[in-house]
Amino acid sequence: MKFFADTAETEEIRELADVGLLDGVTTNPSLVAKSGRDFKEVIKEICGIVEGPVSAEVTATDTNGMISEGKHLAEISSNVTIKVPLTWDGLKACRALTQGGTMVNVTLCFNANQALLAAKAGATFVSPFIGRLDDIGLDGMELIEEMREIYDNYELKTEILAASIRSANHVKYAAMAGADVATVPPAVLKSLVKHPLTDKGLDAFLSDWKKTGQTIM
Ligand code: G3P
Repeated sequence: MKFFADTAETEEIRELADVGLLDGVTTNPSLVAKSGRDFKEVIKEICGIVEGPVSAEVTATDTNGMISEGKHLAEISSNVTIKVPLTWDGLKACRALTQGGTMVNVTLCFNANQALLAAKAGATFVSPFIGRLDDIGLDGMELIEEMREIYDNYELKTEILAASIRSANHVKYAAMAGADVATVPPAVLKSLVKHPLTDKGLDAFLSDWKKTGQTIM
């Protein structure tokens, strides 16, 4: 499963990229607003940090507006991936942009039929929002499972990009359900490495090693 960072904070992206685990980045208008930065400048900077897909979302809601904005944003860098919402206009813009060679991430996906439409529109990625389904008492992971079954039934190439991830368990279960990508807030991504028994075991190893009085170098 590929890991994308779900943030527009460039220092966090740089830190994660340095570990070598980062396959891409997703942003959205809320994340860009939170960064306080100029949208196109921050996307350009992110594209210089990671080689993988960097999602930049259009804000037009009509097909032609989305296509125009998408083409404009795609000029920033070859790894810019245009995010469009899962609406009829978004699907039409998705088809036009992907036919023109631009990667598209169809976002705000909340059920399997929407995901099927996104794949038929040629989406490179589709973003099911797990956390927001959980927020209203539904099962976000069930959507990932349904999408995986449908996409595999018809060998659809659109990649399932699990989004709205709030916990380490979301990452684990998304991987078990067969998501192609998980876009993860940096704090959650960094938490994946932690386990108290790992820390305890390492302390014990080092304590016992110190007693030998030896050094490796
Ligand atoms: O990529 C979508 C993600 O940023 C939304 O997350 O927590 O606002 O549902 P959240």
